Amino acid sequence: MDVFEKVNTEVDSRITTGIPRLDELISGGLPNNSITLVSGTPGSGKTIICYHYMQEGLNNGEKCLYLTSDERVKNILKQASELGFNFQQYVDSGYLKFIYLDFNKSDMYVEIENEIKNGGYSRVVLDSITPVSEMPVWISDGINEVIPSFDGFKTTKKIPAGSIPATRMHVRSIMRILNNDNCTALVTSEIPEGSRSLSRDTISEFLVDGIILMDLDTSMDRRKLTIRKMRATKHTLKPQDITITAGGIQFL
Ligand SMILES: Nc1ncnc2c1ncn2[C@@H]1O[C@H](COP(=O)(O)OP(=O)(O)O)[C@@H](O)[C@H]1O
Ligand SMILES: [Mg+2]
Repeated sequence: MDVFEKVNTEVDSRITTGIPRLDELISGGLPNNSITLVSGTPGSGKTIICYHYMQEGLNNGEKCLYLTSDERVKNILKQASELGFNFQQYVDSGYLKFIYLDFNKSDMYVEIENEIKNGGYSRVVLDSITPVSEMPVWISDGINEVIPSFDGFKTTKKIPAGSIPATRMHVRSIMRILNNDNCTALVTSEIPEGSRSLSRDTISEFLVDGIILMDLDTSMDRRKLTIRKMRATKHTLKPQDITITAGGIQFL
């Protein structure tokens, strides 16, 4: 089924985020099988939300997949442990897997798709989608990208690399893969300082079930978290005051 045609009537079961006060604001957690975009400027706490989300799953005995655009997975583990998330033991036991998104590999999407299909992960994080949307993966002749076929999604179209249609194809492709019946995904997206858009690619916000906006008010030395959208959920639109401490994100 295409991501745009998703009809999901099962809204009862909720996936807790690992941040209890956030769960309270969204009827107990993220809708099962949903994709939620965590958008914000650099340093706004997007990655830390992902840490909470992974830790919660691991505490519940769930298998978790962390797709990262940061090659230095060791650094991620170190940064996480400094905030009190001790992921190494779960990597060792096989419950948590990190995959570096290597754009030099033309089969990157196939690898991710197979991992999600066969890995038994109930939680997937993509941190972040921004390089995915901006990096040409399928350059065929130095200028154009040819988008390979996926199940039920066949095209032989050539699209100029780096163009808006190419960006959209990448975002749609990765969203299709994350739109798996067995997992619930968090996707982070970098937005430039002062932008009114909810993602740099300006398309991912339309393809997801939920949007959490992370904000910095530097002049007031404050941080805010706003739920902008959440499928089948009545929620407040009011920005919530948060802080980041040694234990991660805390609501004030
Ligand atoms: N131990 C800590 N105590 C307080 N704040 C921290 C700590 N560790 C990180 N931070 C804050 O979190 C920010 C990084 O959050 P992160 O989730 O990585 O941001 P991004 O939105 O770029 O992913 C840092 O810039 C810093 O402000
Ligand atoms: Mg980050």
